[in-house]
Parts: sequence; structure tokens; C-alpha cells
Amino acid sequence: MARQPRQIQIDVDEIPKRWYNILPDLPEPLPPPKDPEKGPSRVEQLPNLLIGECLKQEMSTERWIDIPEGIRDLFAQAGRPRPLFRALSLEKALGTPARLYYKAEFYSPTGSHKVNTALAQAYYAKAEGYERLTTETGAGQWGTALAYAASLVGLKCTVYWVRAVYNWKKDRLGFMKMLGADVHASPSPRTEFGKKLYGQDSNHPGSLGIAISEGLEDAGKDPKAVYTLGSVLNHVLMHQTIIGLESLKQFEKAGDYPDLVISCLGGGSNFGGFALPFVGEVLTKGKKTKFLAAQSEAAPNLQGEYRYDHADHAEITPLLKMYTLGHTTKMEPIKGDGLRYHGCSPILSLLRHLGYIDTVAYPKDEKHVFKHALTFMRTEGFLPAPESAYSICCAIDEALKCKETGEKKVIAFNISGHGFMDIEGYREVLGFDAPGADKHRSDFGLGF
Ligand SMILES: Cc1ncc(COP(=O)(O)O)c(C=O)c1O
Repeated sequence: MARQPRQIQIDVDEIPKRWYNILPDLPEPLPPPKDPEKGPSRVEQLPNLLIGECLKQEMSTERWIDIPEGIRDLFAQAGRPRPLFRALSLEKALGTPARLYYKAEFYSPTGSHKVNTALAQAYYAKAEGYERLTTETGAGQWGTALAYAASLVGLKCTVYWVRAVYNWKKDRLGFMKMLGADVHASPSPRTEFGKKLYGQDSNHPGSLGIAISEGLEDAGKDPKAVYTLGSVLNHVLMHQTIIGLESLKQFEKAGDYPDLVISCLGGGSNFGGFALPFVGEVLTKGKKTKFLAAQSEAAPNLQGEYRYDHADHAEITPLLKMYTLGHTTKMEPIKGDGLRYHGCSPILSLLRHLGYIDTVAYPKDEKHVFKHALTFMRTEGFLPAPESAYSICCAIDEALKCKETGEKKVIAFNISGHGFMDIEGYREVLGFDAPGADKHRSDFGLGF
């Protein structure tokens, strides 16, 4: 019998040359951004807020958008293409008849998929003559990715980092600073909006919605700076389709095809990047693949309301039609804090509304999620980011369902990042350093 390949790879010259824009293939037109009833027009402000090329891509109805040679070169520099793995050891440990495949975005130089759009946005910003990028970050992965991209193309970078995470990820803060970024805990006293919240509580835990407002305000006051967003918007998801497009080629090489595609979802960039090329095949080629988004009960935005809402706390952005929990809603910090965002990208929200995407939200204590992450780590050998642990948890839960039913489902999941800088979070939730914990090693994994 032929040996099952563990790793399925394509060559550097097979890195896709075009991104996939799903807009023309959506079953219904995507509801456009709009203005609130009161106040100045936010829609008219968009050209002042976003990189010109990105705004063009945001509205484009071209199905395929060329990836400039310079960005493809940056992708190669960042180690693309990334392998697709068959999780043979995990399958065996679970005793599941399902075939499990995972995409290895954790091989990114900064630790996550976020470099894919960071490189594209930094490249375009440089070409348009900007000198500085501003942004928000939750997990810190997007901030590090942007700091890295800014440094490669020769731009300055200012990051507003949700304080609840800034306080515990000391090494990631060091990483961003080593890359040359200027990093501030958010809400910060540096912006008018941040000052209001910081003045009430200098330990305010912050949120992505607040940090986005600070990044926007900062760039808005400096003509040489431009704001960049790490998720949610159409062009960000499109840049990330490099993940799913590579995976499609790799599945073709493997002679297999997913029945179920899974990823964790905060604002939707890695879920969209991985899943949209497969969704495109459902919409245009009659494939029957299902899609499942893994979330936290701390921010189950796909279980919120489908309506127009702001993408940021201070209401600087236009209203986007999306599943939302409300842009000022308080959400409890978690260790997978990159998933704690009030809204889901408009494209994925429409697909959810039309029944193409299902969702599951895991308990806020994260014990179930992190135990499954350990099972993955002890069998496949990779340490996932806390956010990516949600993808893994969901894939394992689904594989265990197949064990019950005997179904030989093909399950594909994206591991959006590594957790080398997140061990403190795992330690706190799993308590593996607690007195006597060694005696109970089996509690921390392989517990199915
Ligand atoms: C490793 C990782 N995965 C996933 C996410 C969630 O964001 P998105 O839904 O945009 O992929 C984040 C956000 O910070 C992250 O750092």
C-alpha cells in the first residue's frame, strides 16, 4: 500500500499569481457601507482613511486580482508557500475514520497569517508615498506582522495594542519593538478618543474597536501616515485568499477534497482567506463543502444580529452590514483575545446569513479548547496560537463525531499562528505549573 504523505507542498513558482475576489460570485450583492443618520459622511472620508489601491480593491468586482511581482517576492521572502499537512498522528490518536488536513500558517516569520495582508498593505502604502503606518492589534500578531512588513519596505509603524493583552505578552511587545515599531497600550493618552477612556480608568482593558479608533485618529492627523486594518474588510480577506488558493492546489496534489472547512474567526481574515476559495467552488462549481467557524462565547459575533454597525468604538468608520454584538458592547478578555471583536466581516456575514457558514462558540474559560490544543501538540508536534487552538478544537470535536458515526469525512482546518509567545496564557488556563500538576499530566491532553 502506498505510504500516506504527511506533507503536501507546492513550489515557490506555484505561489498563486492572482488573489480571489468573491464579490462577483456572491449569490446576492454585498450590502455597501453606509453613513449613519447623523454627523459627517464617513463614506466620503474613506479615501482619506485607507490606502488608495486597497480602497479600489475593496469595491472591485473583478473575480481575479493580479498580485504584483513585488508582493509575490515578499511572500517568498516570508516563506510562502506554506505546507498542508495530513494529521496522520492526530487521526490515529483520536481513532477517527475522518481524514484531517491542516494548513501551516504558523510557519510565518512573525507567527501568523497576518503577514499576508501586512506585506500587501505596506507595499501599496510605500508605493503611494506614505511614510508611516498606524494600526490596532488584539493578540499582538497583527501588530507584529505590520511592524515586520513596515520594516521590510522601509516605513515607520505605530501600533495601538489592546491593554488586556499588552500587559501579559511581554515578549511579543519586545518583538514589535525590535522590528522598530512604536507600540502603545490602548486606550492610550496619545489620542483624543483614547484620552477620554484612559482618563476614566488608566487600567482600562481596551478592545479592538477602541484600538481601531485610536489608529484611525492618529493617521487622520498626519498626512504622511495611513491607517491599515488587519481583518474584516473585503481587501484584507482577499489578500488572505493566498492561503485557500495554495490549499486548493495542495488538495489537488493529494487527490483529496474537503467536505468540511474549519477555522477560528475574530473579524474573519484567516477564516475568509482559507475558506473563500472553497466557498467559490461551492458557488460556481457545485461542490458540497460545508464551512464551520470556531469562536469564543466571549465574542460570538456570528450569533449576534445581522445589521448595520460601526467597525470601531468611536464611530469613525462607516456602518457595515454585518453580524455584530454592538460596537460599544463590553466583552470579557480571553487568552485567544484575537477572537474578541464585536463584528464579523461583511462578506462572511452575508454568507452566514444565506446559510453557507455555520458557527460554534466555546466556553470563555478556554479549558476545553486548550486541552484539545495540547492533544494536537503532543501528536502533531506544533504549538498553536491560542486563537488557532479554536480551529484545532473544532476539528477534533468534528473528528470525534465521525468516530461515533463512522463517517470518513475529509476535514480541513487552518492553523493561523504559532503560540511560542503565548505560553503564559496556556499556563494560566491549564495550570500546568501549579503544585502537584505533574502528577496529573494526563489531565492536560489526550483526554478524549
Ligand atoms: C493567530 C490568530 N488567528 C486568528 C485571529 C483572528 O483574526 P481573524 O478572524 O482576522 O483571522 C488572530 C487575531 O489576532 C490571530 O492572531
